Amino acid sequence: MSIRIGYLAALMGVLAGPAWAGAPQVPASLSVNLPPDSRTFPAGKGVQAMVRNCTACHSVGMILNQPRMPEAAWAAEVAKMQAAFKAPVQKADVPAIVAYLTAIKGTK
Ligand code: HEC
Repeated sequence: MSIRIGYLAALMGVLAGPAWAGAPQVPASLSVNLPPDSRTFPAGKGVQAMVRNCTACHSVGMILNQPRMPEAAWAAEVAKMQAAFKAPVQKADVPAIVAYLTAIKGTK
């Protein structure tokens, strides 16, 4: 009998879930104040493709703060945005984006 009660207690414990799951998890802060980003991309061929495809998730400043990289690395970076982060980059815009990034942040 005591064994059966033990089983029952164990089953109830499983059904109730772990103790830490009981209390609702409330984040300490429910809002975020982002610093204003007043930077704009330098003019150049492909700048519209950048604005169209990259600024939904990033500030302009975030992209301008990246290190210089060779063209292949920029192409891989754009492909990573599409594959890893599901960025809805227009396929037709990819060459213009890579060319623009190489122009402003390429290696000489
Ligand atoms: C759907 C949202 C989204 C879009 C659109 C997007 N990215 Fe990203 N990007 C991310 C996330 C998420 C990260 C990784 C986290 C971080 O560093 O902010 C990231 C990181 C980066 C980084 C930092 C280096 C790295 O690999 O982590 C660069 C550079 C970058 N993105 C460039 C771009 C460019 C250029 C475009 C436009 C073609 C673009 N992103 C569009 C979501 C996006």
